[in-house]
This record gives sequence, structure tokens and C-alpha cells, in this order.
Amino acid sequence: MGKNILILSGSPRKGATTDSLVGAFIEGARSAGNTVTNVRVAGLKIGGCLGCNHCFEDESQCVQKDDMAQIIDKLKESDALVFASPIYFFGLTAQIKLAIDRTYALLREGTPVKRAALLLTCGADSPDVTEPAIAMFRAMANYQQWAEAGVVVAHGLHKPDDLKGRPELEQARQLGVNI
Ligand SMILES: Cc1cc2nc3c(=O)[nH]c(=O)nc-3n(C[C@H](O)[C@H](O)[C@H](O)COP(=O)(O)O)c2cc1C
Repeated sequence: MGKNILILSGSPRKGATTDSLVGAFIEGARSAGNTVTNVRVAGLKIGGCLGCNHCFEDESQCVQKDDMAQIIDKLKESDALVFASPIYFFGLTAQIKLAIDRTYALLREGTPVKRAALLLTCGADSPDVTEPAIAMFRAMANYQQWAEAGVVVAHGLHKPDDLKGRPELEQARQLGVNI
């Protein structure tokens, strides 16, 4: 049976390298009969978590009424979660981190998510540059008890179409098929 997959995509640059990697993943995932929702978080209005703990006392309700509500609703019906982001200063973008922090509202209630994957793009060629983001993803998956479905990393990317024809697109497509 097909899975419900939610992608949180953190690049503010529309149609650029991260979107291309996400596009290949979606193609694979849909070809395998999964339902995919891609949320480009940089286009949404999402405030940072206030740490007020209101959500722990009031049925997962956040005091902030903004676009995070649509992600929370989707998370409640997702089996798999994909984080896609460029590396900005050795980490995920601030835009996707805002959304990740706000999933705090569902920590008590939990979600149906069982599997998670990571898609990364970056400028540098050295693997060192993505290590902190991959470590963060793995720690989060371990904490949330998500099985790691896969990590695809594409290095050496600067211009929007730099990923064209590169093998990482096929890796992302395969990850979509197998997630
Ligand atoms: C603010 C900013 C910070 C970045 N920091 C890094 C970095 O620390 N390491 C790296 O390898 N690339 C870095 N990059 C390059 C991007 O990760 C890379 O070009 C990526 O492919 C951009 O994704 P996009 O095409 O979806 O915008 C940075 C780019 C920007 C705009």
C-alpha cells in the first residue's frame, strides 16, 4: 500500500538545485504509488517556537496562529517525512529549522511517521560540510524513533541548474521509489 509522504523543503530559491532534487524524489515516490505533499517552507509564514509549552497543556495547540497549522495537519496523517535543504553555514536553512522546531507541538501526541529521509544540496565538494546537518537529522530520527530511509547529498552546486544530468537525481528518485 502506498505511503503518505510529507516533504519539508527549505530552499528559498524556487526552481533551483534543492527543488530539482525534491522533484526527482517526488517522481520516484509517485511512480511507486505513494501520495506526496511537498511544502516549500520558505514561502510560508512560520514563526519560531516560543518555548511557552502551551501545546503540552492544550491538546497540541500552538499559541501562534500562522502557516505552521497546515504542516501540523499534514504530519498527523503522514507515514514518512522528508527534509530537503541547502546547506547554509554547515546546517539546514533557518526557514526549515523554524518548521522543525514548531513540530514540538506534536511531541506529546505523536505522529504516524515511521520513516524519514534527508536530501541535501551544498556548494562545497568536501563531505565535511554536510556532516553537522546529517548528524542532526540522525539524532532527531533516533529521538523520534523514525527509521532512516536514506540520505542523498549533492555537492558542488552554485547556479540553479547545476544539478542537471547529475547522478544524485537518480539517487533521489530511487529513494522515492524505496521509501
Ligand atoms: C546563505 C548561504 C549559505 C551557504 N552556506 C554554505 C555552506 O556552509 N557550505 C556549502 O557547501 N554551501 C553553502 N552555500 C551554498 C548552497 O548550499 C548551495 O549553493 C545550494 O545548492 C543552494 O541550494 P538552492 O539551489 O536550492 O538554492 C550557502 C549558500 C547560501 C545562500
